[in-house]
Amino acid sequence: MDRKEKSLTGTLIFTVSTAVLGSLQFGYGIGVINAPQKIIEHHYARKLGLVIMQKSGNMTEDYVPSTVTMYWSLSVSVFSIGGLVSSLFVGWIADKLGRIKATMVVNSLAVIGALLMGLAPLGQAHALVIAGRLITGLYCGLIAGLVPIYIGEVSPTALRGALGTLHQLGIVTGILISQVVGLEFLLGSDKLWPVLLGLSGVPAVIQTVLLFFCPESPRYVFINLGREEAAKSILKKLRGDYYDPSKDLEEMRREKEEAASEKKVSIIQLFKSSNYRQPILVSLVLHMSQQFSGINGIFYYSTSIFTKAGISQPIYATIGVGAVNTVATIVSVFLVEKAGRRSLYIIGLAGMCICAIIMTIALALLSSHAGMSYLCMVAIFLFVVFFEVGPGPIPWFIVAELFSQGPRPAAMAVSGFCNWSCNFIIGMCFQYIADACGPYVFIIFAVLLLGFTIFTYFKVPETKGKSFEEISAEFRKKKHGGKKSTEMEYLGTSSEA
Ligand code: GLC
Repeated sequence: MDRKEKSLTGTLIFTVSTAVLGSLQFGYGIGVINAPQKIIEHHYARKLGLVIMQKSGNMTEDYVPSTVTMYWSLSVSVFSIGGLVSSLFVGWIADKLGRIKATMVVNSLAVIGALLMGLAPLGQAHALVIAGRLITGLYCGLIAGLVPIYIGEVSPTALRGALGTLHQLGIVTGILISQVVGLEFLLGSDKLWPVLLGLSGVPAVIQTVLLFFCPESPRYVFINLGREEAAKSILKKLRGDYYDPSKDLEEMRREKEEAASEKKVSIIQLFKSSNYRQPILVSLVLHMSQQFSGINGIFYYSTSIFTKAGISQPIYATIGVGAVNTVATIVSVFLVEKAGRRSLYIIGLAGMCICAIIMTIALALLSSHAGMSYLCMVAIFLFVVFFEVGPGPIPWFIVAELFSQGPRPAAMAVSGFCNWSCNFIIGMCFQYIADACGPYVFIIFAVLLLGFTIFTYFKVPETKGKSFEEISAEFRKKKHGGKKSTEMEYLGTSSEA
């Protein structure tokens, strides 16, 4: 490997750090709504002239009027609906405005959403929070696609996985920050919850300012805008003055020619053209496996799972999950260029499958055997660790790797839509399934995880260290050859491409 290709320049670090402020904000949006539930429900009730009464003899449960429950559920779920809808427009905006301007424009949604939520007590609080969450969701659906596209396009091949994983690191750090500042003695209080929700706009403002100093994606500048000289000088900025960009430029030139010979790739063509069928299938299944692994069953409902498992301070155990999640993602940043995406994905899914089985056994034996609550807690922590080894970060950036410049934005849009839809399904259904299945809820995820592990083994190629062109050539070759996919085959074909 060319040593220079691996070196991180100041500009690259600055550019990627600026980009992941968007990921941080996405994570904050996911996590922030959990802790202040009770406080905000009380506020809604007061404004609506309703009363929440405590159940007698029970300090933790209240009688919440159904109108308040409805407004609360909407406050939580409109976020996903916003993300689901806007994710479909990622490709359009990324190509229309370019990666940098698109991010700047999209940031205005984050600020509007934050203002609506931050100022909610001044008006109809429930309506303002719901509108703010919807707009924040619209923002997150777009930013969750724009960040990986941009990072994938500015990174050198040898660091694309490690830098791509920083998107997930931004997300998990955002979740952790929101969990901590959401504690009642910090911002999760009756007075400060609007600040807690409104804070989500701050990274967007900072990012917009910093983006003025970041270079546009060199691939966008050359392939989409046709400005070769400008792309060359951006590459020198990103890789260092002594870097010889001729190999990158050559690759982009070929991609540009290829893109010119085929019509613009729309979402429908992604499914129609046999060239893209295999990579889009892999992308969708990877996003499905991320969500149907059951991870958000843990993130959305960990406090109630820990309570059922007999843990005495469930809120702190939940923050513990957030902390373990963050540390595991940091480890993953370093692992992904060493072990490769495919093997980490398989290890991650298989590990989660085993943990899901252990969780089920521990929950089933909880009342009859001592120590089961601790076994359950350890299994939950390891479940999260295995998630961050592969299934957490990889789907977000591998889609950008599996497609060349032409179809990439459309592929990101479809995959993002798939991710948000599955996330929404889990958010809506997990509690009902958990109530119906009791301790056996995670068996369903264990079965799904096993299926996804087998799929990955047979269908997902290794993309580590390969150029975008080599990866798409590999899919084309597979289409014609129809051979079995093993890592050796993928690694061995780049010269033939
Ligand atoms: C991924 C998922 C997200 C989940 C998070 C947990 O980013 O897309 O739904 O909440 O990981 O770390």
